[in-house]
Amino acid sequence: MTLTAAANRRTASDRIVFDEIGKHYVRAGDQLQVLDRCSFTVEPGEFVSVIGPSGCGKTTLLNMAAGFTAPDDGSVRVGDDVVTRPHPSRGVVFQQYAIFPWLTVARNIEFGLTLRANRRPRGERKDVVRRYLELMGLEPFASAYPKELSGGMRQRVAIARAYATDPQVLLMDEPFAALDAQTRERMQELLHETQLTERRTVLFITHSVEEAIFLSNRVVVLSARPTGVREVVDIGIPAPRSPETRLSPRFVDLRRRLEGLLRSASTDEAGARR
Ligand SMILES: Nc1ncnc2c1ncn2[C@@H]1O[C@H](COP(=O)(O)OP(=O)(O)OP(=O)(O)O)[C@@H](O)[C@H]1O
Ligand SMILES: [Mg+2]
Repeated sequence: MTLTAAANRRTASDRIVFDEIGKHYVRAGDQLQVLDRCSFTVEPGEFVSVIGPSGCGKTTLLNMAAGFTAPDDGSVRVGDDVVTRPHPSRGVVFQQYAIFPWLTVARNIEFGLTLRANRRPRGERKDVVRRYLELMGLEPFASAYPKELSGGMRQRVAIARAYATDPQVLLMDEPFAALDAQTRERMQELLHETQLTERRTVLFITHSVEEAIFLSNRVVVLSARPTGVREVVDIGIPAPRSPETRLSPRFVDLRRRLEGLLRSASTDEAGARR
């Protein structure tokens, strides 16, 4: 199958459904109810960001979609499958650079394609690596090692590696949180452009309202613990988005609205603790 065919075969099987999720942790004998009947959906080919107060359970939700953590109640489904364990069809990008220091940039991108579940013939692997090196502007660094790269470049390698295996869905947990403001904006633009050409189902977690608006079709705002969905906001800004988009009246309005929602969610939490 050609790469274009692969990109075009996105179907309803790519939908992510969080269905009435409940989760608690026990710490020092105390029970902490983190999630309570938390439901939302990421449609096939859609980019959805999740924002919410710190500690409300965003990473926990992403870990459930990845199959690293199991819910106590409800289920996470990707297509027809209930997620019960990690699988290469779900690509994950973490905040910390999860690339292998002992492999070159090109080998890092190729890595997933050499694993049994995703193995591709050598010629095809080279094509995929070339394509993502180009897309991420990493061609001059193909034979460099991670320690020779800046933080932004390492995250580009991590993103290239996640896309390269042609996963059913992509799960990203604050992938740009460690970057300086300027690099972060450039990475958002790059990810937006990549999404326009690759059209994957993406669940993206961030603390930045601006980042969520810039990248997303919809933004899910979570409440404070025990966490459910407070509101789902349709962004409705046409693509392609550019640096100027951030100055548009619609963008500024959305930012104000989402910041308000986030602030009131955090205040609820402070109130609940008193
Ligand atoms: N393995 C664990 N054992 C005990 N408590 C946990 C565990 N994992 C998470 N928690 C608690 O569950 C809550 C939610 O954690 P989680 O990491 O999902 O939040 P988050 O929304 O991603 O936070 P942040 O915005 O700071 O990244 C937190 O109070 C955290 O302390
Ligand atoms: Mg987190």
